[in-house]
Amino acid sequence: MVRTLPYADMDKMVSLSKRRGFMFQSSEIYGGLGSTYDYGPLGVELKRNVKEAWWRAVVQNRDDVVGLDSAILMHPKIWEASGHVENFSDPLVECRDCNKRFRADQLETDNCPDCTGTFGPPRRFNLMFRTFMGPVEDTSHELFLRPETAQGIFVNFQNVVNSSRKKLPFGIAQIGKAFRNEITPGNFTFRTREFEQMEVEFFVKPDTDEEWLNQWVQERYNWYISLGIREQNLRLRRHDGDELAHYAKDTYDIEYRFPWGWGELEGIADRTNFDLTRHSDASGADLTYFDDISKERYIPYVIEPSGGVDRATLAFWLDAYDEEPDGDAIRTVLHLHRDLAPITVAVLPLSRNEKLTPTASRVYDLLRKRFRTQYDDAQSIGRRYRRQDEIGTPYCITVDFDTIDDQKVTIRERDSMHQDRVLISQLTHIMTDRLEHGW
Ligand code: GAP
Repeated sequence: MVRTLPYADMDKMVSLSKRRGFMFQSSEIYGGLGSTYDYGPLGVELKRNVKEAWWRAVVQNRDDVVGLDSAILMHPKIWEASGHVENFSDPLVECRDCNKRFRADQLETDNCPDCTGTFGPPRRFNLMFRTFMGPVEDTSHELFLRPETAQGIFVNFQNVVNSSRKKLPFGIAQIGKAFRNEITPGNFTFRTREFEQMEVEFFVKPDTDEEWLNQWVQERYNWYISLGIREQNLRLRRHDGDELAHYAKDTYDIEYRFPWGWGELEGIADRTNFDLTRHSDASGADLTYFDDISKERYIPYVIEPSGGVDRATLAFWLDAYDEEPDGDAIRTVLHLHRDLAPITVAVLPLSRNEKLTPTASRVYDLLRKRFRTQYDDAQSIGRRYRRQDEIGTPYCITVDFDTIDDQKVTIRERDSMHQDRVLISQLTHIMTDRLEHGW
């Protein structure tokens, strides 16, 4: 598929988002709340499809990964043991003149970018959100909203081993909300204070960690490509020693070329036996594993592919956007992969006409049982095709006056705009086949 734009223009995307219902500024009628977003009717479908595609790839299509859904509120000792209370912080500086705060490591000048004032000395700012459990608001009732889903997996390691009888190497996957009180959020949904993660903790025998790290890096890179990200907009970057997280021995980031520059979509880290050892020491629980092949007992090593749902959704959406010359006009189209498109099939009667409506409704009822289907009979057929192109619907089914006699409808394909006529009686079968093998 030849594409016109190398990457999307962010202003246009923000406008498309609001106009068509992908993402909205949260609490907008109250003036918005810093860096939180709501997903509209199309955005929520796109995001659900991203999560489903991930779950299918890492849980359902593998024999060595099982799922988990752990609580957001967890025992506060977990965050002490994991090192987050001590280490999960960014360097913060405050302007002496306007009191605005910035992340020291992201500043390009020595003075305040807002008022050119000077900064006070940098200090560490912990990114975890605090709250209280129960009706007493004192430090003994203080909890944290989880800043990563991973710890819910580590503290359930023994539960999962005992209940699923999984043998190493195996992984536990989880999708869920995480919260970080970022000093400088921004770039639309890229860096927000409330977001979703999709994480796997893959437990392996010590000494096999490097080999598994490489496998997961390839696997995860290929996942983004298989769902439509263009190779020129995706790259792998290995962390330098001084940027590794406090728990990591080695890490690769999968980065996407966003309109504002390269940014992280997912990190794949070798967390060694850091977390299980720390939780075992802090809780007194035995988190060792008995390897009945080598007859050894050890604390497993962990490879962690950790991606952001919102960032992946944003990247798939941005990468799909194109503006194609179409005669004297421009056709705006989202070339979303069929598994991600919010709507897969649109049923469009040629016009809003009482002769066409019963057949068009019948076709709609037939398709909606199997596919994410939308019915649209407002305005001209050309405008309706454009509306579906703009939201990435791979197929439109048109019901016209010949349909009443020959029981055939037209299938119009989004990317090639190719059209062909097929019998209604074969439509479900043909659509199933195209959605399985087509783009
Ligand atoms: N458990 C490891 C971990 O949390 P991370 O690199 O801090 O690692 C993993 O986060 C992923 O979560 C990132 O690659 C990114 O996609 C997403 N993420 C992190 N902070 C985010 C934020 N403030 N807004 C949106 N997504 C974020």
